[in-house]
Amino acid sequence: MFEDAGVFHRIGEGTDVVSKEMYDFEDKGGRTLALRPEQTASVCRAFAQHRPQTPWKVWYAGPNFRYERSQAGRYRQFDQVGVEVLGSDDPEVDVEVISLAWDFYRALGLTRVSLLVNSLGEGEERQRYEAELTAYLGRRRDSLSESARATMERNPLRVLDSKRPEDAAVVAEAPTMSEFLGSSSRRHFESVLGGLDSVGVPWVRSERLVRGLDYYRRTTFEFVSDSLESAQNAVGGGGRYDGLVADLGGPATGGIGFALGLDRTLLACDSEGVFGTTEGTVSVFVVDTAGSSGALSLTHALRRAGVSADRAFDGKSMKSQMKAADRSGAAYAVLIGPDEQSAGTCIVRDMADGTQTTCRIDEAVPTLRAMLDRRPATSTAPSTKKEAP
Ligand code: HAM
Repeated sequence: MFEDAGVFHRIGEGTDVVSKEMYDFEDKGGRTLALRPEQTASVCRAFAQHRPQTPWKVWYAGPNFRYERSQAGRYRQFDQVGVEVLGSDDPEVDVEVISLAWDFYRALGLTRVSLLVNSLGEGEERQRYEAELTAYLGRRRDSLSESARATMERNPLRVLDSKRPEDAAVVAEAPTMSEFLGSSSRRHFESVLGGLDSVGVPWVRSERLVRGLDYYRRTTFEFVSDSLESAQNAVGGGGRYDGLVADLGGPATGGIGFALGLDRTLLACDSEGVFGTTEGTVSVFVVDTAGSSGALSLTHALRRAGVSADRAFDGKSMKSQMKAADRSGAAYAVLIGPDEQSAGTCIVRDMADGTQTTCRIDEAVPTLRAMLDRRPATSTAPSTKKEAP
């Protein structure tokens, strides 16, 4: 989770993630460390350090930290799952990486996620495009929002990402990267798009897709969900970072990967109803008005036997305990009153139809298990959704 801050400084001082959002500090040994804002740079650092066999395919999962303006779907600590492949320039690696992410969203049951792709060209092409874009934005400076004007100074490409309505016209008329792609970048990109077609992954080309990190070259992509607010609708993204290992002191090495934002993916799952709602339901609620330890021991025995159970506390009245049983969503209530207590029995009540049976208290657990097993499996998940893996 900690990394030498220098590793991230190399990924671009013009990147907000590094210059404005990084949690960095000096440790007791005088080293400048950072809480990692992302994990690709650390993977490349590890590659440069250990020089593994290529192609090197790795994955990671864990928290990242960015000093962002927090809001729904944008947090200062968030989780990512990612993969990286280092040591190959083959466009089929791009296809393999992108389709892996695509299949993940599909396997989850998300249907409102789409794939945006773009090519940012080789380093020099990108630089020429940036120069042209900077000149264009300079000419249209007065029509831009104040925030876009500030972004322009630090990282002109990021202006294309502006979601402010006042910037829309300037962004729409801006020169596009595709005009600056050389023949090798163009061929690479066409092979990636053709490969995606051949494995059945639908894509949308987005000339405005610039991504928030500076290390990208050639293929870039993002997965957006139209079930989320547009400012936080990217549920994952990635691309090629062919110069990064060399920037970190290793040999010239191509690389590509993605990171899926778990928090946003879960928000998208909620808004598409992928997992259904099973909140707060238990199978059995124990109602004890005998004032003994019946509720304590029976609830405990049920839970030990794998039956979800709950009970009331504070010596509540029968009426109030029955209300709590109702609210709990339990399939059965077990009633222990003074008569049952002295007879060593309990009443099992079916909460759906009100029918009741009496059984011995020491047989309550197997009896309830058997009754629950006989019930048809009920799910509160929307019936149209397939079950998530
Ligand atoms: P990223 O686009 O900065 O890329 O982050 C990837 C995903 O992490 C985003 O699409 C989003 O779902 C999630 N995410 C980012 N910031 C936040 C936040 N503040 N709160 C909640 N979720 C967030 C990278 O991090 C690159 N390292 C991806 C990559 C891997 N490129 C090549 N390999």
